[in-house]
Amino acid sequence: MTWNYSKKTTELFMAAVSGKPGTHLGEIEDADGFGEHGSIACGDALRFTFRVDRHATDPRQDRIIEARYLTFGCTSAIAASEALCCIIEEGDFTPIDALRITNQDIVKYLDGLPQAKIHCSVMGAEALEAAVFNWAQKRGVDLAELGIDIRHDEQEEGRLVCTCFGLTEPYILRKIEELKLTSIADITNSIKAGGACMSCHHTPGGLQDLLDKVNGSRPTTLKQLPVLPMARAPRAQPPTEMSPFKFAKKVEEVIDSYVRPQLANDAGDIEIVDIKDTKVYCTMKGACANCVGSQSTIKMLVEQALKDQIDQRIQVIEV
Ligand code: FES
Repeated sequence: MTWNYSKKTTELFMAAVSGKPGTHLGEIEDADGFGEHGSIACGDALRFTFRVDRHATDPRQDRIIEARYLTFGCTSAIAASEALCCIIEEGDFTPIDALRITNQDIVKYLDGLPQAKIHCSVMGAEALEAAVFNWAQKRGVDLAELGIDIRHDEQEEGRLVCTCFGLTEPYILRKIEELKLTSIADITNSIKAGGACMSCHHTPGGLQDLLDKVNGSRPTTLKQLPVLPMARAPRAQPPTEMSPFKFAKKVEEVIDSYVRPQLANDAGDIEIVDIKDTKVYCTMKGACANCVGSQSTIKMLVEQALKDQIDQRIQVIEV
């Protein structure tokens, strides 16, 4: 599918993937703020890091001086992450002030995003929030005392509504309210819930019921609904004495069933070149071949999938 991106979106994406000086693809070591949002299981993930100039006596007056991101995937994910870093660095924000940046600010910076890609801007705002939460913990800033309520555990707690994307009732309700969502299509465009099997659309306690609950169309019976267990990403088995043959087969299986379909969404592919112990050597193909973001893709998609599903010791190396 060809998306109708603004000139600004295309420019930011091209600058980032060609590694133009001043762009922000990468990760800050020993970052003052570290936040992640999304998951490889959902096809989108963003790691956002920032460094501050520390105030001598009052950490609330720290100023963000550098921001970086790692993400994989489409033009809009990279452009939205790039836009977030630009807004932050151009704005001379304290981490607390940076919380005022919304996904709408990111969309505005990009001169608009296709409706179906709005979730990329939401992912940026969420990763920023998580990074500020992390900074506050490290610097001993009590956000609650300042009246700031970052509900970072919300995605993991509460009744699971959309099992395909692992999204819970409290999180979806908050997003419906914050982003003023009025339809299931709005929800899917903004946070991806409902965008796969669709079984959560009209089931009791599903997306339509949550919309009605926030927007007041009709009463719900959510209190009577059973609490479902959380969907969990596949977990790595404890390291086993797998034979080299079985290990290689398992790596191929995960790449074929899990990684390759996601790369194919962006016309990319991957080839396994060699496997030695727990080191997997690979080459990126197709659209991923000449993308400077391929290191992010390898780290956040390929390596993470193999670690999660086979063995935490696995390292993926691009050759
Ligand atoms: S359960 Fe929500 S899309 Fe499948």
